[in-house]
Amino acid sequence: MKENLIAPSILSADFARLGEEVDNVLASGADIVHFDVMDNHYVPNLTIGPLVCAALRKHGVTAAIDVHLMIKPVDRIVPDFAAAGASYITFHPEASEHVDRTLQLIRSEGCKSGLVFNPATSLSVLQHVIDKVDMILLMSVNPGFGGQSFLPSTLDKLRQARKLIDESGRDIRLEIDGGVKVDNIGEIHAAGADTFVAGSAIFGAARDSDPNCYDTVISAMRAALADSPS
Ligand code: DX5
Ligand code: ZN
Repeated sequence: MKENLIAPSILSADFARLGEEVDNVLASGADIVHFDVMDNHYVPNLTIGPLVCAALRKHGVTAAIDVHLMIKPVDRIVPDFAAAGASYITFHPEASEHVDRTLQLIRSEGCKSGLVFNPATSLSVLQHVIDKVDMILLMSVNPGFGGQSFLPSTLDKLRQARKLIDESGRDIRLEIDGGVKVDNIGEIHAAGADTFVAGSAIFGAARDSDPNCYDTVISAMRAALADSPS
């Protein structure tokens, strides 16, 4: 298994002071920045685009930025995110007319590519494009909003995805997104995930106590990961 990465979703950050929020969460031990892009078309919510990604780079963020596109269509905006400093670009197969082409486009722009699977979406497309993905992202909630509850059926799907990755022998991350908390991250890891998105668990919890200190929740997640079998 790969090194575990904790990826705070900035969807739950304070957007009015986003640069500071990202600095603080990275200083508290987070590994990569999960950047949720929503278009009020593919999902019923509207968030941030390439200008905000570029602004984080300009602010001095050097950690990997994991851009999760919940938009349709996909291709037009890929070069803009690459130019804005995205490290990973992942998209939902339902949102692209030509999934293979979009995966190739992302890599040709110098980014790592990934596919995102909604709770009701089959992993079957991977059979045809697994050589073109660097990340498989399983949604453990329906996309569009932070703060939803983890869908337990995702654990079986994680085991299925883990098996596909291991059998392929390829260097592919397995990321989980939605409802990840201190009390379930261990079983999610045991089911095969190595990259953990958490929005409300990190930003929401800390805001009520010390708005600049995310150490407690991130340390608790690391401790739960260390305790869980891999
Ligand atoms: C949902 C987003 C998630 C979201 C997760 O569509 O893709 O990244 O921010 O939020 P929590 O961790 O609160 O479920
Ligand atoms: Zn996300």
